[in-house]
Amino acid sequence: MEVIIRPTKEAAIELAAKLMTKEVRDKPNAVLGLATGRTMEPLYDYLAKEHKENGLDFSLVRSFNLDEYVGLDPENVNSYRYYMNDQLFNRINIDKRNTYVPNGIATDLDAACVEYENKIKECGGIDIQLLGLGEVGHIGFNEPLSSLASRTRQKALTPDTIEQNSPLFTPPDVMPKRAITMGIGTILESRKSLMVVTGIKKAGILAKSVEGPITSMVSASALQLHPHCIVVVDEEAASELKERDYYNWIFQNEPEWEEFR
Ligand code: GLP
Repeated sequence: MEVIIRPTKEAAIELAAKLMTKEVRDKPNAVLGLATGRTMEPLYDYLAKEHKENGLDFSLVRSFNLDEYVGLDPENVNSYRYYMNDQLFNRINIDKRNTYVPNGIATDLDAACVEYENKIKECGGIDIQLLGLGEVGHIGFNEPLSSLASRTRQKALTPDTIEQNSPLFTPPDVMPKRAITMGIGTILESRKSLMVVTGIKKAGILAKSVEGPITSMVSASALQLHPHCIVVVDEEAASELKERDYYNWIFQNEPEWEEFR
């Protein structure tokens, strides 16, 4: 795992977006793992701008989203399919038939989860998986106690997650209490993972995820097992990390980061 600390939220988002851009430039038919949430919005703005102004080409890209609420159809403004179309897909030249989001309204949700896993395999696996961090330590909707070997499946959301996300719904109590999410085992199979965390509210859970023990109580701590995980954070989110000097030294001295300094 590499932790990169940038001075501001904007700089952290820019670095993460540059890493995603590089992935698409280096491999035009890359399979991207995508995430939702407020953190990702400026990152998708950056990618849309790269497409518009610098011709970043998504025509051959395939994408898989981490999660979707159970019961929300794609036209529902709170569904993650709607979010992805609105924030990214409608603004770039990706073929929407190559964009996959779990189907929260499938008649057989369990079968839809198996199908999702098969589709990821059929596309050759995920090249880079973008991740946000929930305040309960979840990645995707892998709530505390999720098996570290879990696959795409339905999960009941915790009261903390409901509290965190329900303000986005009108009225807040219409927020679904269940979701489909890629499992932690699924996420760990991506060739690279990129977690982006900003803001003081995430400082405690970030420190537990990165420097704490690996535990199913903090799903993101499983990323310590990932063979190639990059964690990009701002100063605020990094404020409870103990080894900040070491992480900064790596960023300043390792040749792989030269083009991003
Ligand atoms: C939701 C998503 C997560 C995301 C999290 C963080 O719960 N299921 O994938 O990481 O929100 O969201 P935000 O970026 O808004 O803090």
